[in-house]
Amino acid sequence: MNVHDSEKVVGTLVQEGYRQVETVEQAELVLYNTCSIRDKAEQKVFNRLADYKKYKAQGKTFGVLGCVAQQEGEKVFERAPYVSLVAGSASYRNLPEMLVQIQAGNSRVTGLDDRQTDECFETEFTARTNPHRGYITIIEGCDKFCAYCVVPFTRGKERSRTSESVLAEARQMADLGYTEIQLLGQNVNSYKDPDCGDSGKKRTFAELLAAVGEIPGIRRVRFTTSHPRDFGRDIIDAIDAVPTLCDHVHLPVQSGSTRVLDAMQRLYSREQYLERIAWMKTAKREISITSDVIVGFPGETEADFAETLSLLDEVGFDAVFAFKYSPRPNTPSLSLEDAIPEEEKSRRLEVLMARQREIQIQRYKKYIGSITEAMVESRNEARKQWMGRTSQNKTLNFTASTDPKVGSYVNVRVTSSFPNSLLGEMVI
Ligand code: 5AD
Ligand code: SF4
Repeated sequence: MNVHDSEKVVGTLVQEGYRQVETVEQAELVLYNTCSIRDKAEQKVFNRLADYKKYKAQGKTFGVLGCVAQQEGEKVFERAPYVSLVAGSASYRNLPEMLVQIQAGNSRVTGLDDRQTDECFETEFTARTNPHRGYITIIEGCDKFCAYCVVPFTRGKERSRTSESVLAEARQMADLGYTEIQLLGQNVNSYKDPDCGDSGKKRTFAELLAAVGEIPGIRRVRFTTSHPRDFGRDIIDAIDAVPTLCDHVHLPVQSGSTRVLDAMQRLYSREQYLERIAWMKTAKREISITSDVIVGFPGETEADFAETLSLLDEVGFDAVFAFKYSPRPNTPSLSLEDAIPEEEKSRRLEVLMARQREIQIQRYKKYIGSITEAMVESRNEARKQWMGRTSQNKTLNFTASTDPKVGSYVNVRVTSSFPNSLLGEMVI
């Protein structure tokens, strides 16, 4: 999502006559897009800004964008006085005007919104960096207020784009030669078509997904992220019915213990999560499932943690992004007692990652000998390999006797497997 936000910022400014350069040294204006999902990400921002200080003497202008900007607001100016612009993601459309103010001599310009804003992050121009695979935002913000999460405060309330405008953008991308589209949102399955558009049709998320998948020229459609609570069976039906919809679902579970899920205010139980997994396992194609997990949420006991480990065994994820709980400003869990010591969080994280690694070793092995379609992403000259991605979103590196084109789709016979990737040779 942050990568795509940066594409929107670049697109907006290029349209105004700005030119993108490769390095900070070459730039006159440096915009730093930031994330505040965990404290570590936020600390990085201020460390990086301290590195930029030396450039101020060269007359460069600095701006901080994204969630740290939205969260810290004018405090950014105090911590990094050489910054001239602080703007949250709902203000990107106004960036050209804000930059005019800076040029007019205003050295502290802000674009900060309250949570209630109806402003869309949508910008008219987007500079997509990859010519084959592109993102489209369908829903912004979040109203879920999970107890640990800062997103509802930094990205504001939930607001969906019309399905007509999403489809128009997708068709335009297909015309430009894009073959893969990834629909983005904090919770794509909370999508609610705000009006009927010109065609008079109001679409559910599953209908929108299917409609994007049916656009001529589109070969792969992905979507991220999903919330288990709003994850309906109709999404599986759509994947069954439309072959271009990728056989991969990222469904963050966060914990395998219903008690911890309650404390996290996730509004589903372990059993309800597993019910959704069971739906996926009845799909016509094998759906690859990935997840996010938080360890060391306040009050998480050894028994709760053991339930998370057993859930990993039960589901058999193909990838898990695991994080140590990080207390965030404004969030309800900030005031919870029973904090877990940092060393214990680290221990749990290691145990969880080791268990998941074993699961992936077993899971990835079973693809050896199969022939899988990969979209060619890049060339690794040192290894004399091509890097590709399967519909299931797995990395599939391969050798080839003739050079495939980046962005093309090739068939690869899998010859060996690793915990996080597959290796094979292109089949002609
Ligand atoms: N601490 C740790 N992990 C967090 N995440 C979100 N908020 C926090 C937090 N305060 C994780 C969740 C989410 C992912 C994007 O980041 O697992 O799914
Ligand atoms: Fe954060 Fe929960 Fe919203 Fe996801 S659903 S962005 S974890 S509040």
